Amino acid sequence: MLILGIETSCDDTGVAVVGDGYKILSNIVFSQEEHKKFSGVVPEIASRKHLEYIHNLIEKALSGANILLSDIDAVGVTVKPGLIGSLLVGLSVASTISYLTGKPLIPVNHIESHIYAASFDNNIDFPFIGLIVSGGHTLLTVWNSWVDKKIIGTTIDDSVGEAFDKVAKLLDLGYPGGPIIDKIAKGVKESSVSFPLVMLNNKEDRYNFSYSGLKTSVVYYIRNNREYNKEDVVYSFQKAAIDVLYKKTVIACKDFNINNVVIGGGVAANSYLREVFLSDKKLKTFFPSIKLCTDNGVMVAGLAYYLYKNGIVINDPKSIEPVDKILTYNDKKALRK
Ligand code: KG4
Ligand code: ZN
Repeated sequence: MLILGIETSCDDTGVAVVGDGYKILSNIVFSQEEHKKFSGVVPEIASRKHLEYIHNLIEKALSGANILLSDIDAVGVTVKPGLIGSLLVGLSVASTISYLTGKPLIPVNHIESHIYAASFDNNIDFPFIGLIVSGGHTLLTVWNSWVDKKIIGTTIDDSVGEAFDKVAKLLDLGYPGGPIIDKIAKGVKESSVSFPLVMLNNKEDRYNFSYSGLKTSVVYYIRNNREYNKEDVVYSFQKAAIDVLYKKTVIACKDFNINNVVIGGGVAANSYLREVFLSDKKLKTFFPSIKLCTDNGVMVAGLAYYLYKNGIVINDPKSIEPVDKILTYNDKKALRK
C-alpha cells in the first residue's frame, strides 16, 4: 500500500511516499531558512512558505518514488499539534488530493509520528515508554500498540527543544540552537558550572518536566559571572537538560515495568542524549536515524499505514479541527498528580 505523507506542522515542509509503513520510496524536506534571522519560527511566514513550496515538493516526492499521483493508495497528513496556519496548508492540500483521487485521507498526530520514526531502523517491541523531545513538546508516553497509547507526563512550561533554542539565542550562537549546542558541548570534557535537574525529586510531578527554570538559571549565571566561559555554560546546560529526561524516563520504566524506550523529535538527534540512554544496558532504547529525528513526511506516511489498518480515516475534512497545543493548561494540571 503506497501512502503519500504530508507534514506541515511547523517550519519544515515534508512530503514522502512510503510503502506498507516501512519502505521509504522518497523523502523530500524543505526547511525554511527565513526564520533564522528571528531566532525562532514566525507562524505567518511559515504558513506562507508552506503554501509557496508544497505543490512542487509533492511533485518531487512522486517523481522521486517513480510514481504518479494516481498510483497512491491513501494520503496521510499531520492534523495536530502545530501552528494552525501551517497545519491548514497541509490539510487543505491533502484533502484536495484525497477528494480528486478518491483515495482515503488519514489523520496523523505529529508527536505520535515522531515516535513512529524510530521504527524505520529498528524492530520495536510493545509495550514501550515513548519520550518525545522536540521544539514544541516534551512528553512521556506509554505505548501498547501504534494505536493504543497514553500521555503520562509533559512539560509544564517550555519544551526541551525550546530551551536549547533560547539558551543558544542568549549566548548568541545561532538558530536552531540544538545542533549548535550539541556540537560545542562535544568539545568539552568537563565544566565547573552546574545547573539544577529541575523537578527531578518532585513527587507531584513525577513524570512532568519544566525547562523555563533551567533557562532562568542560565540567565542568572551569565548575569552574575561576566567572565563566563561559553563552552562550559553550553556543556552544563545540555547535561542538566538531558539528564532529567533520562532520569524521569528510568522512573517511568520502573513504575510501568517496561524496558523498551523509544525516543523521537528533533532533540533525539542530540549526541549526549543518545550516549546517556544507550550506555544504560538495562534499557533497550530505540532512536530514529538522525535524518528522521526532525520533521518529515516519512514518519507521517509510515504511521498513517497503521492508522488506516485500524480504520482511522477522515470521512469529512470539515470535521477535522487542527489544534495548536496537545494539552491545555487544565490537562497539564491533571497530569500533575
Ligand atoms: O521535531 P522538530 O524538528 O520540530 C518540532 O516538532 O518542534 O524539533 C526541532 C527542535 C529544535 O528546538 C532544535 O533546536 C532541536 O529540535 N534539535 C536539537 C538537535 N537537533 C535539533 N536539540 C538538541 N540537539 C540536537 N542535535
Ligand atoms: Zn516535530
